[in-house]
Parts: sequence; C-alpha cells; structure tokens
Amino acid sequence: MNSILFVCLGNICRSPLAEGVLQHKIDAAGLTTRFVLDSAGCGGWHAGEPPDRRSIAVAARHGVAIDTQTARQLKSDDFDRFDLILGMDRDNVAYLKAQQPRGSKARVALYLEEALGEAKNVPDPYYGTDADFHKVYDVCDRASDALLARLATH
Ligand code: 4NP
Repeated sequence: MNSILFVCLGNICRSPLAEGVLQHKIDAAGLTTRFVLDSAGCGGWHAGEPPDRRSIAVAARHGVAIDTQTARQLKSDDFDRFDLILGMDRDNVAYLKAQQPRGSKARVALYLEEALGEAKNVPDPYYGTDADFHKVYDVCDRASDALLARLATH
C-alpha cells in the first residue's frame, strides 16, 4: 500500500489536479486497491469547497473528474497517515517540514523533484489565466505517469 498526500496552498487549484490525475491513472491501470491518495492545503481558507472551477474544467476536458473533491487543511496526523507528502512548490515543502511532528512517519518531498527529478515548483495559477491551468494539468499528467511507473513496481 502506498499512501500519498498532495499539498498546495489552498487545496483548490494544484493539489486537486495532482491527486485527481494520478488517481485516474491508478484506476485505469487496475491498481486502485494499492493506493490511498488525498490532498490538502497549507491554509484552510477554502476548506469545505470544491476545487476551483478552472481546475475542474481542465481536468474534465481530459476525462478526469475532480468535482467530487472537497478542500481541507493539512493536519498534524497527516504526517502519520501518509507515507509520502508532496508539496507542489518549495514554500509548501518548507511549511510541511516546519509542521512535521518529530518522529512521524511521512517523507516530505517536492512534487516535481520526486516525480521527474526536476527540482522545480508547480507555479500557483490562482491569479493566472486558463493557460496557466492547462500548464498545471500538463505537468501533473507527466508527473503522474512517472510516479505511477515507479510506484507500480514496488
Ligand atoms: P492552490 O492555489 O494552492 O493551487 O490551491 C491557491 C488557491 C487559493 C489561494 C491561493 C492559492 N488563496 O489565496 O486563496
């Protein structure tokens, strides 16, 4: 069993896509029972809300449904519930490392570094354009292929 938590700032734009795209590929590969995925925000401003409509739209264009997700804030027991916690940018990773309780089990890493070996942020598209959301989708698609290829062999 692999459990992975994706974390961004608000849990409405980037991490719902990272979760949804990988979940879609896991399901298509018949590996649903081997993984537990979730996402959360460093902040709780959007807790209880569905993802941003622009993230829902770009995912839907690719046949990926994320509209059933509900935003939530990171909590301290996440560090014992998940094996791997991936921050979408370096600020998220810094926040995660500062919040991680001593002795908890999760490994914290930067999303694109873990997936693709590219130590880069997924830029926050919240104040951006639809094109920025397309870029987030495309990078999540590439990253999810790489994560699944690695994790499926374990
Ligand atoms: P996310 O984008 O971290 O990718 O979900 C954001 C969503 C909301 C806010 C910031 C970033 N906000 O400031 O409300």
